[in-house]
Amino acid sequence: MLSRRNFLTAAVGVAAAGGLAACAKEDDGASSSSSGDGGKAITLGFSQVGSESGWRSANTDSVKAAAKEAGYTLKFSDAQQKQENQISAIRSYITQGVDVIAFSPVVVTGWDAVLKEAKAKKIPVVLTDRSVETSDESLYVTLVGSDFTDEGRRAAKILEKVIAKAGLKGAVKIAQLEGTTGAAPAIERAKGFKEVMDASHKDDWKVVVSQTGDFTRAGGKQVMAAFLTSNPDINVLFAHNDDMAIGAIQSIEAAGKKPGKDILIVSIDGVKDGFVAMSEGKINAIVECNPLLGPQLMDVVKKVKDGETVERWIKTEEGDFMQDQAAAALPSRKY
Ligand code: AHR
Repeated sequence: MLSRRNFLTAAVGVAAAGGLAACAKEDDGASSSSSGDGGKAITLGFSQVGSESGWRSANTDSVKAAAKEAGYTLKFSDAQQKQENQISAIRSYITQGVDVIAFSPVVVTGWDAVLKEAKAKKIPVVLTDRSVETSDESLYVTLVGSDFTDEGRRAAKILEKVIAKAGLKGAVKIAQLEGTTGAAPAIERAKGFKEVMDASHKDDWKVVVSQTGDFTRAGGKQVMAAFLTSNPDINVLFAHNDDMAIGAIQSIEAAGKKPGKDILIVSIDGVKDGFVAMSEGKINAIVECNPLLGPQLMDVVKKVKDGETVERWIKTEEGDFMQDQAAAALPSRKY
């Protein structure tokens, strides 16, 4: 996979403004906002991953609200975590001649063909949230989203603090609940976490079991139950998102153990429900991944449409939270 850190600042280089006429019709079930500017509003085709997590719902709300605020016509589709649905949606946006296509790719590979079709029609593509692996970097303009590798590193670093605070001595036996197989956040969070483990904890930490829970509560619950059966001595859980951690908590409690005490838990996202679990002492620390990408995305879409230069990767700012910060932070959480 291409290292996102190696991306250069790139000129947009897409003659989007001179592209196809804005002749699109609404998709069935599409959400749209009226331009109110005599039909000159940008038409944005957006293909969302699905509705698998609290993070995703917050991201969808942010995109829809920001499109409305910007006066764009938004054509929105939910791929239900299936790549073939995203490819169909993108093809449909190409046929409709939208001004810009944005999507959050469910997995990293398999996009070249459809992205080439968009390029052939001079429709610029903006990635949001997740990256893709492609043979030709000119197939998309920019990525608006988080540094998932760094989130994995931050999760390992905050786990050091959690372990010290809990006074956990001896072998650290980690269960990892991975995100969707092949998705950028699953690959990169695991990579970042491992980097820190390999550099600083070769002897004392071990990932004893690791499996996908598909970023869902149900997945986290089911996979954690299996982990506890096969490895009853797990003392740490690293969950790639809050929803899987929340599902896992149910299985930990059902097994007669105390989440946050018998099994220390670090997760990623920082959704409200994650903060609630943290304020109840059930999650020990959360690494934030900000889903409120809508305003940044709309800003970039406008620049791309106008042929302006944009950064190759527009990163999101995020924080880390220990359990003792949860109660104070909870009321002001925006998602
Ligand atoms: O791509 C971002 C990830 O996808 C979030 O961490 C997760 O909750 C979501 O489903």
